[in-house]
Amino acid sequence: MRVLGIETSCDETAVAVVEDGRKILANLISSQAHLHEKFGGVVPEVASRAHLESINPLITMAMVEAGMWVADIDAVAVTVGPGLVGALLVGIAAAKAVAVALSVPFIGINHLEGHIYANVLTNGPIDEPYVCFLVSGGHTMLVHVPEPHLYELLGQTLDDAAGEAFDKVARFIGLGFPGGPALDRLAQTGDPEAIRFPRAAIDRGYDFSLSGLKTAVVRYVRDERAHVREPAPEDIAASFQEAVVEVQVTKTLAAAADKGVRTIVLGGGVVANSRLRSLMAKGAEERGFELLIPPPELCTDNGAMIASAGYYRLQRGERTELDVGASPGLPLQAPTSERDPA
Ligand SMILES: Nc1ncnc2c1ncn2[C@@H]1O[C@H](COP(=O)(O)OP(=O)(O)OP(=O)(O)O)[C@@H](O)[C@H]1O
Ligand SMILES: [Mg+2]
Repeated sequence: MRVLGIETSCDETAVAVVEDGRKILANLISSQAHLHEKFGGVVPEVASRAHLESINPLITMAMVEAGMWVADIDAVAVTVGPGLVGALLVGIAAAKAVAVALSVPFIGINHLEGHIYANVLTNGPIDEPYVCFLVSGGHTMLVHVPEPHLYELLGQTLDDAAGEAFDKVARFIGLGFPGGPALDRLAQTGDPEAIRFPRAAIDRGYDFSLSGLKTAVVRYVRDERAHVREPAPEDIAASFQEAVVEVQVTKTLAAAADKGVRTIVLGGGVVANSRLRSLMAKGAEERGFELLIPPPELCTDNGAMIASAGYYRLQRGERTELDVGASPGLPLQAPTSERDPA
């Protein structure tokens, strides 16, 4: 079954074709980062307009890449939330149009479930139960998954999402937008022990908090400058990254042990972070957990992860009504589709 996957929840217009939930035939992403860079963040109206301009050409290009006709598509999957309402609506409208024109099944997907299914594209179906750490531009969550598509929230951020904090600190030390990847690169030349930033919310169960750490970085730079010392950006980057990642790894390993699972799954754009990947791999190995991590290019938003999640839901007989709208605040635990009565 060849599923067309469409993702427009934020600032990436993404279209993919995936066969049987795993085989990527096309995976195209049109990033708008350059349009938002001068504003230092994503501007919703600019995002919607750019999605509108890109979506149809991208669908056509995906067909060329996959070597097929639109008529060869067997089903359509699209992100219905969470995300920016105007941005989501562009993808949803395009997906509905294809599904109606071809009379093929249509399924709405939660963007965060998509991030989890990025793992399936590489490793095949994941055996439940597992604990998933979802960490992206808008979310930081620890989730227990006892059976397919059932999500129990263990903890989440009380303030900033990790990606958001990476982007803000990156901007503060003069890196561009989105700053996460640039901060990661700069940190590789710095000393993670140079500055002992606070380990935030380390004792607050499975919840996370990053606003205090962010303030600590700003205060450190101001104090240094007040003493006429210019702090080394690479040491700030490495020390900040270490403070974030250390807490993330500690809490993820504790949650997996607590729930008695064997497998830890990572998902979301921040999973592209090299220090998170290496520290989590080390911790999982020492404690005897199997660790699943998507390759960096499938960690950030893409259409293939949506097509994969769509395939597995469609296989269970699920379908979404064609009158579905965008759900900007859709929680991971909420149903996005209904079982086919047939
Ligand atoms: N190597 C990296 N190190 C740290 N952060 C990174 C890295 N690569 C990407 N990021 C961050 O990941 C975020 C983008 O992830 P993603 O595309 O999943 O976010 P989103 O889709 O906007 O948010 P959400 O998935 O919560 O809706 C950005 O904040 C970016 O800075
Ligand atoms: Mg995302």
